[in-house]
Amino acid sequence: MKGRILSGMRPTGKLHLGHLVGALDNWIKLQDEYDCLFMVADWHAFMSEYENTSELAENIIDNVADWLSVGIDPKRSTIFVQSHVAEHTQLHMIFSCITPLGILERCPTYKEQMREINTRNLNTYGFLGYPVLQASDILLYKANKVPVGQDQLPHLELTREISRLFNNLAKREVFPSPDAILTQSPKLLGLDGRKMSKSYLNTINLSDAPDEIVRKISTMFTDPQRIKLSDNGHPDICNVFSYYTTFAPELKNEIFDGCSNARFGCTECKKRLAQRIIEKISPFQKKRTELLKDKTVISKILEEGREKASFLAIETMRQVRKAVNL
Ligand code: TRP
Ligand code: SF4
Repeated sequence: MKGRILSGMRPTGKLHLGHLVGALDNWIKLQDEYDCLFMVADWHAFMSEYENTSELAENIIDNVADWLSVGIDPKRSTIFVQSHVAEHTQLHMIFSCITPLGILERCPTYKEQMREINTRNLNTYGFLGYPVLQASDILLYKANKVPVGQDQLPHLELTREISRLFNNLAKREVFPSPDAILTQSPKLLGLDGRKMSKSYLNTINLSDAPDEIVRKISTMFTDPQRIKLSDNGHPDICNVFSYYTTFAPELKNEIFDGCSNARFGCTECKKRLAQRIIEKISPFQKKRTELLKDKTVISKILEEGREKASFLAIETMRQVRKAVNL
């Protein structure tokens, strides 16, 4: 028996290079080894974006187009939209009843978002239960592995806790205790050196046109001590250099030496990097354009995904109801 994986992304905007190296590259590899389910977490997006949903439907299709174009394979993996499988909310309801308030209120991601996000009103009943819905996503399919970023570890901890609480209540092992699979690649920073995020306007999107990529990379912060072309650079503190490590490891040594000995300037260094990134993502973009030509292709894939996911979800809910006499 292959292990089962479930992972998801919230469709809150265009996908960027951070999603590629932080999640998608990992998902693609995991398809060989595991039975994978990849989910568009539209209800999770709704929890924080309910006041502004005009782009939600568009983002779902757009993100799935990116997943498919980078190599998420609908023949091997189940690709579906959370809200298409109603059982997520049913399990969420039952988990809500058994999850103590304290563990949600203490959750570090919750506390951080309540502190930092002031552009949206997150002071709601639903948002507190964000990790309860996430636990439902994972346990509905009895996934035992969950590829996520470091920031999601508290949610996985809560998933295990909720699984344990339910199994105790039911006096039988209905649910597994899933583990995280962390991405190995170092975090990709945004153009300005902060975390790459849509809300910081510092992303390079998978769908950006080549001239846009050149322009964006030209704005990247570099070694602040390198003012003149003849100044020796310090690649180890330069974000552009860290992009080389990720996107062109074969040029790493050459760039390191050349920068340290002032053999070329930052403008040239950035142009070469932009070229490498364009080369890397242009095959994805070709595939993406192809996919988006016929809108029915993606909706068909999502419909097949819904069917496969529902099949598993319905069986789990049958067991759950039986276990608690509902
Ligand atoms: N909370 C995750 C994020 O913001 C998205 C998500 C929703 C998810 N449900 C999931 C991730 C289940 C893994 C498993 O990135
Ligand atoms: Fe950074 Fe390249 Fe400039 Fe060196 S030459 S400081 S690596 S941008």
